[in-house]
Amino acid sequence: MNRRLNNLSELINRSAINHEISIVVFTGAGMSAESGISTFRDQNGLWENHKLEEVASIEAWHRNRALVLDFYNQRRRQLLQVKPNKGHEALVEMEKGFPNLQVITQNVDDLHERAGQTNVLHLHGQLRTSRSTGPGEEVYDIDGSELTLGDTCPNGFQLRPNIVWFGEMVPAFEEALSLVSQCDLLIVVGTSLSVYPAASLLDYVSAQTNILLIDPNEPSFRGSKRIYHFPAKASRGLMELARLLMP
Ligand code: OAD
Repeated sequence: MNRRLNNLSELINRSAINHEISIVVFTGAGMSAESGISTFRDQNGLWENHKLEEVASIEAWHRNRALVLDFYNQRRRQLLQVKPNKGHEALVEMEKGFPNLQVITQNVDDLHERAGQTNVLHLHGQLRTSRSTGPGEEVYDIDGSELTLGDTCPNGFQLRPNIVWFGEMVPAFEEALSLVSQCDLLIVVGTSLSVYPAASLLDYVSAQTNILLIDPNEPSFRGSKRIYHFPAKASRGLMELARLLMP
């Protein structure tokens, strides 16, 4: 059973905090919700009126490239119209006091970077970049919002969104695992922890490391670790945390 916190100072006073400790912040769709980007599982299991597997799987890409490209073009257009929220800004503040702070995000938006965060690892890819469907790992910036059939890499292969879809490997997972296994405090924000292997990162923290979940709903994840749940939106939870960590 996760322990519910009524007050964040209960946890911070109990943790050995100094400015050298390594903090990892693991974020999900709830982190960007207050910027106006919808989460995946909060609307009857539909994401912007689509079943996830219709648009975010490798099978969907093989079935209907035009539909998938169009869907991600819409997401990119939306991203260009929103901005980072107070939660993103609070994390940037925290980075000033804790230079080792590392964000690992499942989000494909660039709101952490646009807020000014330095260390951001994207587990599920990035909306504003593309990669080739041919050989090679190279990533290309997308100029504007559109990626269409006929857009090719220098070797002539169709470009695809640089997103890790269901049914694909997660190339950044090893690096994320290494960061999480060495951290002194893991802060998890706005994720249902229902997608693997991302959610399994929580299993790799050391036995002494506290895990703080900031989410209005209690994520379904249960582990034997020291997990504390603070029921709050990202902006409120992170602003309060920044105030306590950097008085
Ligand atoms: P989900 O949609 O599964 O979960 C969103 C979480 O955010 C839920 O736990 C909500 O309670 C919480 N939430 C909603 N509003 C919030 C707010 N204002 N502040 C804080 N939390 C809030 O999204 P993820 O867990 O991120 O992958 O989904 C994981 C992956 O599933 C995504 O990266 C995506 C999807 O398939 C890909 O697209 C590859």
